[in-house]
Amino acid sequence: MDLFVSRLMSQMTLEEKLGQLNLPVGGDIVTGGAHSSLSAEHIRQGKVGGLFNLKGASAIREIQRIAVEESRLGIPLLFGMDVIHGYETVFPIPLGLSCSWDMEAIERSAQVAAREATADGICWTFSPMVDVCHDGRWGRISEGSGEDPYLGSRIAEAMVRGYQGASLADSATMMACVKHFALYGLVEAGREYNNVYPDDFHAFNEYMQPYKAAVDAGAGSVMAAFNTIHGVPCTGNQWLLNDLLRKQWGFQGFVVSDYCGLEQLQAHGVQADLEQSAIQCLEAGLDMDMVSDGLVSLADAVREGRCSKKAVDIACRRMLEAKYRLGLFDNPYKYCDTTRREQVILCPEHRAEARRIAGECMVLLKNEKELLPLQKKGTIALIGPLADTRANMSGTWAVAAVPGRYKTVKEGLEDALRGTGARLLYAKGSNLMYDAGQEAIATMFGREMRDSRSAEAMRAEALGIARKADVIVAAMGEASEMSGECASRVDIEMPDAQHDLLVELLKLGKPVVLVHFAGRPTVLNWEAEHLPAIIESWFSGSESADAIADVLFGEVNPSGRLTVQLPRHVGQYPFSYRQMRTSRPNEGGTFVKYITCYSDVSSKPLYPFGYGLSYTDFVYSDFFLTDSIMPLDGQVEAHVTVTNTGKRAGAEIVQLYIGDRVAKGVRPYKELRGFERLTLEAGESREVVFVLDAGRMGYYEPEHLSWTLEPGEVEIMVGANSRDTQMRLLHVE
Ligand code: NOJ
Repeated sequence: MDLFVSRLMSQMTLEEKLGQLNLPVGGDIVTGGAHSSLSAEHIRQGKVGGLFNLKGASAIREIQRIAVEESRLGIPLLFGMDVIHGYETVFPIPLGLSCSWDMEAIERSAQVAAREATADGICWTFSPMVDVCHDGRWGRISEGSGEDPYLGSRIAEAMVRGYQGASLADSATMMACVKHFALYGLVEAGREYNNVYPDDFHAFNEYMQPYKAAVDAGAGSVMAAFNTIHGVPCTGNQWLLNDLLRKQWGFQGFVVSDYCGLEQLQAHGVQADLEQSAIQCLEAGLDMDMVSDGLVSLADAVREGRCSKKAVDIACRRMLEAKYRLGLFDNPYKYCDTTRREQVILCPEHRAEARRIAGECMVLLKNEKELLPLQKKGTIALIGPLADTRANMSGTWAVAAVPGRYKTVKEGLEDALRGTGARLLYAKGSNLMYDAGQEAIATMFGREMRDSRSAEAMRAEALGIARKADVIVAAMGEASEMSGECASRVDIEMPDAQHDLLVELLKLGKPVVLVHFAGRPTVLNWEAEHLPAIIESWFSGSESADAIADVLFGEVNPSGRLTVQLPRHVGQYPFSYRQMRTSRPNEGGTFVKYITCYSDVSSKPLYPFGYGLSYTDFVYSDFFLTDSIMPLDGQVEAHVTVTNTGKRAGAEIVQLYIGDRVAKGVRPYKELRGFERLTLEAGESREVVFVLDAGRMGYYEPEHLSWTLEPGEVEIMVGANSRDTQMRLLHVE
């Protein structure tokens, strides 16, 4: 590779080298307002290194042909896309996917996404998004894996493995891009594109680990975040890109900016013009410029000595190496085989996989008197604005989705009930919200769902059918574009029109099951208090409808567990189970008034991190440590036995938490450091063993930020969620 790239670079003009660093938008999905200048002529002149969000193998093949056959050196282009949770076969949104805690399933979802996207011309995905987030107001919490860095790291690795497979040279694998580097999940007040202000200690202990895990797993590229760190925009941040990512972590791939991230150095007010912005970014370690047209315009600056030629060469080399690793120099059309497209995309195996995984991601929050699973008999009233909408099933950031090919919840339930004698009645019941203007904002990208009838007329129809039913299934919550990029919200309760409808439905005295849709943790206080059964279905992708039916009727026993806790009030944010010890802890003590708390809302969540119910019961027993003392460089095992005491098979996520009682840097009371997903038949028991050592139990100490375990007492806890744990004490010496 070195030789090949060196030879090629020796033939390249400065303009051609800069062209490799240029990533204009190829499709019509615009996420930043601006469009970069792109024409076939630019490609012929070698001024383009890649394109993104252009869909279709034939279109991509034609553009690749121009690059390869009509440009002077014939260097192939990279074709990227936001393949975030599947391609045409859509998997649950990443937040939902994380609730499966199933690393094999998550890896397979990425593998399927790669198989489909690469069959349609794509060789590079802008995923995984690994931003840890403690704030449900942030719309992009939907794109990540929740609030925990340990779980987030395992998922980051699984995603990279799934996308990239054993070799990028394989034509069914694609290059991953870890984003948004770094700390985007910390945007202040959950407000989109806002600044972040962590100190390094917390940055490393709470947020940085998943990026590093993805890099260690071999991710080929990294996307710089929009925000600043230490006051410097990430896209032009020397410390972040060159020092931390490359020198400390040994990253070998290339760094791409986010959409217009380079030119936004001017919006941040750290540079006065595009050229200066481009120079800062290039010299800080940015290799590819998404949409700003900044790096591609640096020729004069290099010739006149304002910008380092060496920096251009380094970045160009990294881009060519990526293309080499993908095998594009051997066969630039390797992803454009249109027959493969026909065989692979949305094929029955992929859809079956997506349905299976979607079923694993749903979290059963409440199930009073075993109302669920429902029997396939009698009359079921399906009601709600999410019950018969196709466009909302896949969830936010499903660029390649083809909603016309997916079922609505109504169709899923009809299929499940066909031939059973059970009757399904349907009414929309309400619009998403009363306010048409708010609803238009909440359903951007053309996902308009509004019904022109009055709220009273819609409600009357729904109550009419509900009266005839034995049970009511309410499909309600957020529309898919109420979360995702640029969809931060401070109102995260059930939208008013839907809440009022639920109140009226409940008055009928019939059992109501809420199938809740959301791309974020929401406040469900009223629902949790009044409704007998709640399923958090997130947005589960192209197979949502069948997966929801599977869970409702018990074909699938729910096993999803929350990877973000659900708050009681939006004012609790930022909020996480990883509460650091404070000077005045919120439990116990004499001066109960003077503790870390609010006086008008509990400091506890409504549903804790790790929580989720099943149609069966699990009992934890025989929890012991093989020794109560562990030398710093030694190992001790934690054993626990889990028994399925119910009547049907089910999966349990056994969770291991630690609480380091005394450390130089303040630690959380509880932090996840292990988990195992177990599937147990009715009556079956299994022992789970976690090996405890400094690797598993350490932290980035405050002085040098190096991974350390200090002597002292460490609480070792196991349980079904972060609240319900048993504890044994381990002395580390
Ligand atoms: C902006 C988003 O922040 C990023 O996640 C995405 O990959 C790019 N736009 C490209 O669409």
